[in-house]
Amino acid sequence: MVEFSLPANSKIKKGKTHKAPEGATNIRKFHVYRWDQDSGENPSVDTYEVDMDTCGPMVLDALIKIKNEMDSSLTFRRSCREGVCGSCAMNVDGTNTLACIKDMGEIKGDVKIYPLPHMAVVKDLVPDLTHAYAQYTSIKPWLQADTTAPDKERLQSPEEREKLDGLWECVLCFSCSTSCPSYWWNPDRYLGPAALLQSYRWLADSRDEKTGERLDELEDPFRLYRCHTIMNCTNTCPKHLNPAKAIAETKKMLVERR
Ligand code: SF4
Ligand code: FES
Repeated sequence: MVEFSLPANSKIKKGKTHKAPEGATNIRKFHVYRWDQDSGENPSVDTYEVDMDTCGPMVLDALIKIKNEMDSSLTFRRSCREGVCGSCAMNVDGTNTLACIKDMGEIKGDVKIYPLPHMAVVKDLVPDLTHAYAQYTSIKPWLQADTTAPDKERLQSPEEREKLDGLWECVLCFSCSTSCPSYWWNPDRYLGPAALLQSYRWLADSRDEKTGERLDELEDPFRLYRCHTIMNCTNTCPKHLNPAKAIAETKKMLVERR
């Protein structure tokens, strides 16, 4: 009989509890994943009791408050605080999202915060994105054209430009790829929804002249075709984009050129 068990050092232990300040009456508990490789300790989940009367409305507001006022060792990425840089992607309340645009009013009860799933963790809520960025680089995310550039910009009709809507808004947070079972099981060979949406952004661009070469690169049993239309990517995208549709459009382009 097959026995599945986790290595002893990967088991998540109960961590510390950080109490709310004296006199706080509107308290909410945050259970936050902690792991520091240098400590040699197992991961743990620490509990922070946050005074919501002095906290902003978004999950990132609470994390910043915790770091500033309760535990400066808590580590997470953030930059823009406006949902445009993609840095603060994490798993909140069981869903991958951007902490800075996740309203705590949408969450019932205690708030549970983990790093993006199925990624190596650098520390606490910071995933290692080295491989994901290498995959993004592999799709050559820039305009490729052999014809001589015009004096001004390369023009598009309004209809051609419209085809990029729903694609250019991607902030490369990788919430979609890390919610995808196909990506969990084949991250080495399947590009995943984030890189594939970006790939389609260039396939759909009327100014790009390497459509054939781009499609050649994707004609492979794993890079594109490991997508089984599970749709987790589209359901989780915090920018309300549709990576599954971009993947379907790419498959359609491959069929049409045959
Ligand atoms: S498609 Fe959405 S979830 Fe995926 S990387 Fe782009 S913004 Fe993030
Ligand atoms: S901090 Fe930039 S997207 Fe959240």
